[in-house]
Amino acid sequence: MPATTFSVPTPDYPFTHRHCLSVLRFTRPDIDYLLALGAHFAEADTPEQTLAGATVVNLFFENSTRTEKSFELAAKRLGADVISMNVGTSSVKKGETLLDTAATLNAMAPDVLVVRHNASGAPALLSQKVTGSVINAGDGMHAHPTQALLDALTLRMKLGEIGGKRIAICGDIAHSRVARSNVELLTMLGAEVRLVGPPTLIPAGARDWGVEVFEDMETGLAGCDVVMMLRLQLERMGGAFVPSKREYFHFHGLDRRKLGFAKPGALVMHPGPMNRGVEISSDIADDPEVSLITAQVEMGVAMRMGLLHALYTGSAA
Ligand code: NCD
Repeated sequence: MPATTFSVPTPDYPFTHRHCLSVLRFTRPDIDYLLALGAHFAEADTPEQTLAGATVVNLFFENSTRTEKSFELAAKRLGADVISMNVGTSSVKKGETLLDTAATLNAMAPDVLVVRHNASGAPALLSQKVTGSVINAGDGMHAHPTQALLDALTLRMKLGEIGGKRIAICGDIAHSRVARSNVELLTMLGAEVRLVGPPTLIPAGARDWGVEVFEDMETGLAGCDVVMMLRLQLERMGGAFVPSKREYFHFHGLDRRKLGFAKPGALVMHPGPMNRGVEISSDIADDPEVSLITAQVEMGVAMRMGLLHALYTGSAA
């Protein structure tokens, strides 16, 4: 039997962006287009080779397992040539080295540069220096737009509609680019977003993000359809923000009892990497009835295929 082929949705959609730096740069129709592409590639057995002949360079100044591999796989599935460069953070002199690297890479004329960097704004700076597209794969504590897109795709595939859903993002909000991008995207899609965490891990000004802020899990999770847990980002903490990991789990870690505060049937998400027994119990993380964590990784590849397709075939390409 011939493999099923799908045609890419709304091929005439006027996608005008050259780069993906933050979800706030996209309009709601752009987001709907990207999510439709993500859903398409999630179901396509033989994806169209729309990046055939393109070169994608992964430039990761910070460690990554799933994001880097996910971009690599996504680009290869669309027929692109992919190079992955892992740049050790320790010896990197920010600014100068970044621009030098950009100039070298630009001479090789990649069509897409996927950048992860520990300095907020590094991908935006690079986007001004190169001729191809730049995708922000996480910059400092600023943004992680493809994580938010893949989380939204996961929820769309599971729940259908995101508008009107109550979603709690819990834990270390202060150091999390995932939280920032998810707040931006989920509120744009009409969800009611809550932040739940100890005051030391809630950034000043979070109440101006269009969300409600809660300190304790019981009130924060009440009536929630989705509970998104975040890792304690110890590498970004300049001091002690929590008394101990054990105490943190007791008050803020997600276990069966605390999940009981949410709506019956509530779903659990986590961008990974997980610290089991710190922000989430294994019992919850591994329960296929409630956990979307594996689906998030799966949707990560499909969503990145959708984004690569949109950038490479769009009118700014
Ligand atoms: C996140 C990141 O790097 O910001 N991970 C990821 O991309 N899946 C979250 C984290 O590191 O905790």
